[in-house]
Amino acid sequence: MENTVEQIRDEALAELEGVSEVAGIKDLSVKYLGRKGLVSLFLRNISSLPKEERPEAGNNANKVKNLLEKRFEETRVRLESGAADSGSGIDVSLPGRPSSSGVLHPISQINNQITDIFARLGFDIAEGPEVETDYYNFEALNFPKNHPARDMQDTFFISDDIVLRTHTSPLQIRIMEKEHPPIRVIMPGRVYRCDSDLTHTPMFHQVEGLVVDKDVSFSDLKGILTTLVHQIFDEEISLRFRPSFFPFTEPSAEVDILCVICRGKGCRVCSQTGWLEVLGSGMVHPAVFENVDYDTSRISGFAFGMGVERIAMLKYGIDDLRKFFENDFRFLGQF
Ligand code: FA5
Ligand code: MG
Repeated sequence: MENTVEQIRDEALAELEGVSEVAGIKDLSVKYLGRKGLVSLFLRNISSLPKEERPEAGNNANKVKNLLEKRFEETRVRLESGAADSGSGIDVSLPGRPSSSGVLHPISQINNQITDIFARLGFDIAEGPEVETDYYNFEALNFPKNHPARDMQDTFFISDDIVLRTHTSPLQIRIMEKEHPPIRVIMPGRVYRCDSDLTHTPMFHQVEGLVVDKDVSFSDLKGILTTLVHQIFDEEISLRFRPSFFPFTEPSAEVDILCVICRGKGCRVCSQTGWLEVLGSGMVHPAVFENVDYDTSRISGFAFGMGVERIAMLKYGIDDLRKFFENDFRFLGQF
């Protein structure tokens, strides 16, 4: 008799394994636990057993009854929530693969930060073509015909007259051709140079700035750029204006920021100088104003072009600028 209730249990569980629809569970309930079900019949037959066997048999049968009720219910819940083998061999009850949410590329983050700061200072934002003519990239910016920047080593030429822009400065010309002073605009974008090392990549981002109005002076230039650097980093950051040369500005200055990698001691990243150049700037050259028919007796202006990757490098303490473009998620996910 003991065997029999165990046999009923094993049969019921084996049948349950094969059930894939809720209706199947109902059939099993009737077959085993219903009024005329096998377990119920077993319980009713207990009275025909010898007296001393009855308690144990009753106990066992009740255990089987409870177990089956529990298993049937569990299976019903699982089937109703659709969490079974859907027949396609896919177990839809397994947890899904987690999808991590993306972050903005660090260069985009710095770009956005720079544009926000200038927007608050009242600057407009403009964009222009990455494929430029020699005229806008060089000629109108007062580059002499034999200037080294026009050399094949720096410039990607598409043809004799068409280049990938080597800086965002051609936009100064495009803006001034269309608009009249006062002008206060920044021009972010990608630029290209045949260059690659710790602090140079063949494609990088610049933000060009141009201010043209009555009585614009070099101290305005210094004020704006110092404000910008303080807002991006903090007031404690060390920066310096270093005299420089560009064909399209006079006087010209480059801005360096104390190297964050070595704190000014000198390292590979800053070529042992303790400083890293982040931008070029200067007062717009009269020859440039003449190329766009501006009256140099009535207006003056300043311009600047900053390297976004260099700023990102200093801000995040990255020792190799090329890492920004290797697309390693472990690197990019940190920002
Ligand atoms: C210029 O490109 C000038 N057009 C800047 C300018 C604009 C001067 C307006 C005056 C008036 P320069 O070649 O120094 O200048 O580049 C400007 C900045 O771009 C550099 O200070 C540096 O931060 C960044 N830069 C230059 N080359 C690379 C490169 N290959 N990879 C990454 N950043 C670079
Ligand atoms: Mg430079």
